Amino acid sequence: MNANYAAASEALRNATCAVALTGAGISAESGIPTFRGDSGIWEKYPPDDYATIEAYLREPEKVWRFWCELSRLVRGCLPNAGHFALAAMEAQGKLRGVITQNVDNMHQAAGSRHVIEFHGNAHRLVCMECQESQPLDISNMGDNAPRCARCATLMKPDVVMFGEDIPAKALSRARAMAEQCDVMLVIGTSARVYPAAQLPQTAKSNGATLIEVNTEVTDFTSVMTDIFVKGPAGEVLPRLASALQ
Ligand code: OAD
Repeated sequence: MNANYAAASEALRNATCAVALTGAGISAESGIPTFRGDSGIWEKYPPDDYATIEAYLREPEKVWRFWCELSRLVRGCLPNAGHFALAAMEAQGKLRGVITQNVDNMHQAAGSRHVIEFHGNAHRLVCMECQESQPLDISNMGDNAPRCARCATLMKPDVVMFGEDIPAKALSRARAMAEQCDVMLVIGTSARVYPAAQLPQTAKSNGATLIEVNTEVTDFTSVMTDIFVKGPAGEVLPRLASALQ
């Protein structure tokens, strides 16, 4: 075990309240592409055209088809060893919960129980007027952006598009967790999108140790991270989880 693994295991063993903040990198080994980088989703689908609320209102059918494609892709994927390791750590009482920026439902599918969906969930639809929510059953959806059965207003995938606020409950719960934790695992995120990227900063300024798990160093690493464990989350997290047993 290298020094950083040992330090990370030690910090987690001594933690009284550990939480995880996850990003797209944790789902990469499930076959779900990350957002940034050469083969990232935003390379093919620029966010200004496909991921802002303005784009959805301007061209709902085009943006709807993009989200359907993403939803279809995610539905064909399964949680990986990284997701399962976090669920196991929670079941052992070693992890308070997961704050995820991902909308892919992989943590829940792996058995994590305390999951804060910071950016929503691509498996749900929500009405833009009456807030009626329903599961997004992709097999029943056509190419047209759906309308609410109750009020006939345009519905949208229940994900936070650029230009929208984080759901108030998710934001307040995530902030509270960041303030209370003494260890935060920051996993597979470029930590470039706010307010999610603020959470490790909040944790750090409240005295928490930040353990970053990523295949690459990020902008965040040299400034914030206490312990950097380099490697794929699907390999690193099971090793950390087993070191806790
Ligand atoms: P990014 O695509 O910005 O970053 C993914 C990170 O995962 C990078 O730092 C990679 O180095 C790392 N990574 C890749 N494979 C990995 C692996 N197997 N194990 C560990 N790390 C790995 O994704 P996010 O940071 O999640 O928001 O992006 C944040 C938000 O920006 C997303 O939630 C999304 C996007 O715009 C919305 O759609 C609202």
